[in-house]
Amino acid sequence: MSKRYERLMKCYECFKAKVDFTPKIALILGSGLGDYADGIDIRATLDYKDIEGFPVSTAPGHKGRFVFGYVGEVPVVVMQGRVHYYEGYPMEDVVLPVRLMKLMGAEVLFVTNAAGGVNWHFECGDFMLINDQICMAPSPLIGENLDELGPRFPDMSEIYSKKLRDIVKKTARELDVPLREGVYIQLTGPNYESPSEVRMVRTLGADAVGMSTACEAIAANHMGMKTVGISCISNLACGVSNRPLSHAEVQETADRVAPLFKKLITASVQNIAKEL
Ligand code: HPA
Repeated sequence: MSKRYERLMKCYECFKAKVDFTPKIALILGSGLGDYADGIDIRATLDYKDIEGFPVSTAPGHKGRFVFGYVGEVPVVVMQGRVHYYEGYPMEDVVLPVRLMKLMGAEVLFVTNAAGGVNWHFECGDFMLINDQICMAPSPLIGENLDELGPRFPDMSEIYSKKLRDIVKKTARELDVPLREGVYIQLTGPNYESPSEVRMVRTLGADAVGMSTACEAIAANHMGMKTVGISCISNLACGVSNRPLSHAEVQETADRVAPLFKKLITASVQNIAKEL
């Protein structure tokens, strides 16, 4: 057994000893969206700091715990706060929570994030269904492969499940929630981009830019988890708007659209679960 797998199993055993719950869907909540978990039918929580070997998040606005509970009838695990590469953790640690949630039993990874709008047509407060991604951070699969969980050279032709994307689109239509669609690019952060960098990522095909998600989606795909993701366009990327960026603005927008975002997530989770 590899050291990586051993560590992951240790985290899993820690979870098993403390929580008796099998989630179907794993949710990761981005900046300012973390309080979604407080509104679900909570059955258990597990602080990251209480899991041996688990990386603990230090980003402002991120709580740092798993919340287990029900969205309607659907058993979910919610990551209230994610681990970011810019915090200084190796990529292996950044995606460890995703791997752990797969071991807990989750079949689907539902990712959300706050992102900068790169597409000229986007507006602050828009939601964007992620239809593909560009990962400009190092691959989380570098190093010894976790053969127990997935292949050395996994296919990435449909990182965001077409079937699940269609369900979210239909859900948004039913709720009358406008939903954009596009490509998410992950840069390392923690600095926001320069205007030239934003021009570069637009040329590369990105519609939204952020500092998370793509690596998590790669790890999920590696393990055969179906993935779906929505970005909240919390600000227009640098150069799209001529105002300087701040985390406060990101947080403010996320807070403002949170009620609508929650509605979309709740209904999407329920509709996705029907198809599992
Ligand atoms: N750039 C990178 N990450 C972000 C942004 C941004 O403009 N907004 C929220 N996360």
